[in-house]
Amino acid sequence: MNVLERVLDFASEAQLDRKSCLVTFGGGVMTDLGGLAASLFKRGIDVVHAPTTLLSQVDASVGGKTAINLAAGKNLAGTFHQPRAVFCDTDTLTTLTDADWLSGLGEIVKTAWIGGIESLNLLEESAAQLTAKDAGTVASLVAECIWIKARVVAEDPREQGARRALNLGHTFAHAIEKAAGYGTLPHGVAVACGLGLAFALSDEIGHLANATDRERVERLLAALGLPRTLAELRERFDVTLRADELLPAFAHDKKGSVGKPEFVLPTRPGELELAVRLEDGVLAAFLAKR
Ligand SMILES: NC(=O)c1ccc[n+]([C@@H]2O[C@H](COP(=O)([O-])OP(=O)(O)OC[C@H]3O[C@@H](n4cnc5c(N)ncnc54)[C@H](O)[C@@H]3O)[C@@H](O)[C@H]2O)c1
Repeated sequence: MNVLERVLDFASEAQLDRKSCLVTFGGGVMTDLGGLAASLFKRGIDVVHAPTTLLSQVDASVGGKTAINLAAGKNLAGTFHQPRAVFCDTDTLTTLTDADWLSGLGEIVKTAWIGGIESLNLLEESAAQLTAKDAGTVASLVAECIWIKARVVAEDPREQGARRALNLGHTFAHAIEKAAGYGTLPHGVAVACGLGLAFALSDEIGHLANATDRERVERLLAALGLPRTLAELRERFDVTLRADELLPAFAHDKKGSVGKPEFVLPTRPGELELAVRLEDGVLAAFLAKR
């Protein structure tokens, strides 16, 4: 909130007017914050994003969601404000840390599932080149992810229905990030673990049509070096995350009403159930095994 105020004060001191355009340059925190500032300044000025992390190129910069965190939870204050344009220069990605690189890969796996069987096949075929950071592969997968996300957002810009698919893995991820402490884990790494948990949950409660799809996504996450379970997250990222610490963190998830989290669960490639609610006992028992 304080940083948002500083950005707005800066816009005012720089004498931006209603025809001005704010340009963001940086990761998803920057596109979320800059997008929010642009949507508020003088009741809304244009914004253009130049995202420089893998995660912000494939996900955060596209779709117009803006946000800052509140003490009660992540991304709880925000607006919808579509950028005029998004420019992705994949050369900027060469300086990312390994953790920020991994973070982007988590959102790529999510997007490939939403894109359907062909996107999933493409990612499986490209996994080795992607891990090797082959420039051509990175550029084409960034483009593929943007098209998939743009298609979903165009159908449902304000998340009344179909757009909720993009929250696959995120009910788990937001609870993990909150329980671990914001900033402890890269967002997309939490999303990767959230995806692993969403596929396991969907399989165990009978929503996933083919158990082989769970194995397929788990294999893909592993091939890309991403965690699939809480145990792997604890082992590799130095977080404790006991089930009894995690459960209260689901209470304020903004996708459900207070106290009742909603999960987006996979059924078949490209298809999802958008609002699955569980009894607390089911979630607790599921988490305890992970
Ligand atoms: N609005 C949306 O639709 C949406 C979608 C997904 C994620 N998000 C949000 O995005 C945020 C995560 O984004 P992120 O992973 O980009 O995090 P981030 O913005 O914190 O960037 C990660 C780190 O990378 C550094 N960095 C940026 N570009 C770099 C470069 N080219 N080389 C080296 N370092 C670089 C940053 O300074 C930062 O330390 C979360 O807050 C998440 O909630 C928003």
